[in-house]
Amino acid sequence: MDLDVLNMFLIAWGTLALPILAFVASFLLWPSALIKVYYWYWRRTLGMQVRYADCGGYRFCYSVRGKPGIRPSILMLHGFSTHKDMWLSVVKYLPKHLHILCVDMPGHEGTSRTNAEDYSIQGQVRRIHQFVESVRLHKRPFHLVGTSMGGNVAGVYAATYPAQIFGLTLICPAGLRYPNESKFVKHLQALKAAGVSQGIPLIPTTPDEMEEMLRLCSYVRFKVPQQILQGLVDVRLPHNDFYQEVFMKIVEEDSRHCLHDNMHLITAPMQVIWGKQDQVVDVSGASVLAEALPGCQVELLENCGHSVVMERPRKTAKLIMDFIIAQQGIDSPSSKKLS
Ligand SMILES: *[C@@H]1O[C@H](CO)[C@@H](O)[C@H](O)[C@H]1NC(C)=O
Repeated sequence: MDLDVLNMFLIAWGTLALPILAFVASFLLWPSALIKVYYWYWRRTLGMQVRYADCGGYRFCYSVRGKPGIRPSILMLHGFSTHKDMWLSVVKYLPKHLHILCVDMPGHEGTSRTNAEDYSIQGQVRRIHQFVESVRLHKRPFHLVGTSMGGNVAGVYAATYPAQIFGLTLICPAGLRYPNESKFVKHLQALKAAGVSQGIPLIPTTPDEMEEMLRLCSYVRFKVPQQILQGLVDVRLPHNDFYQEVFMKIVEEDSRHCLHDNMHLITAPMQVIWGKQDQVVDVSGASVLAEALPGCQVELLENCGHSVVMERPRKTAKLIMDFIIAQQGIDSPSSKKLS
């Protein structure tokens, strides 16, 4: 090649390299910001407003849509290491006029991070009770929904405050003694046997571990671009010590089986939704609840993993609404009037 042409190329590359490098760098740094913008935009589109409830130095962050009406209000409790926005996919399919609240669980996202006391299941129940009273949700029986760790909390809440609960939806709840062990639990037992407390698959530290976690949690296999995986890890990394603390707390003896030990106290109508291919919390837990509470409605979803809310948002919303409407039909019209 002619030397002049080569020179021209080098100069051209030199002037282009900087913007290209800047672009690549921002692409690598951006994903976490993009994820935030994405949720903000999605909340806006669905009309969910972010609010705070302050109670004696403790702050709850939640999102809300609608006002109390004919149907009971719905409170949604998310799982370990996620946040209120995980419910947006379901909220999308719920009627606009419904009064819906999604709260950040203790220490997660916008809700105060205090100490381990608050992270046990009983501790979380106490905090959620404080939240319910501070937003005056207890004025009328409400419908409580919880998934995974949030399902454990929701079930124990319903057992502890039966008068406040109109109905209960538990989506693959933790907290039971499962007849069969999930892949995740087997993995944990192997870690424990080896005397290791790090490397919990639900606390990823690299894009590869992130991908592994997504695989563990969902039935559908989808290829997530490396940048997105990096972004998902980036937003989680600063919280990993906290996640570790919460995790160690919820696997302690009194929290791990908290729902199991309290389920006989649940009096509210209950619905259980579970993905048949759940690899985190085994679907055999559904039979435990069905046996303990004979009236309970069990819905097992085919080709669905632990992330029921992500994998089957439309189905989940429909099941919840149908259940609430059916329960209101059972009650005589005068029995659930505004008090
Ligand atoms: C436990 O797993 C076995 C084998 O997969 C299955 O046959 C059985 O029905 C499961 N038990 C429950 C309670 O789901």
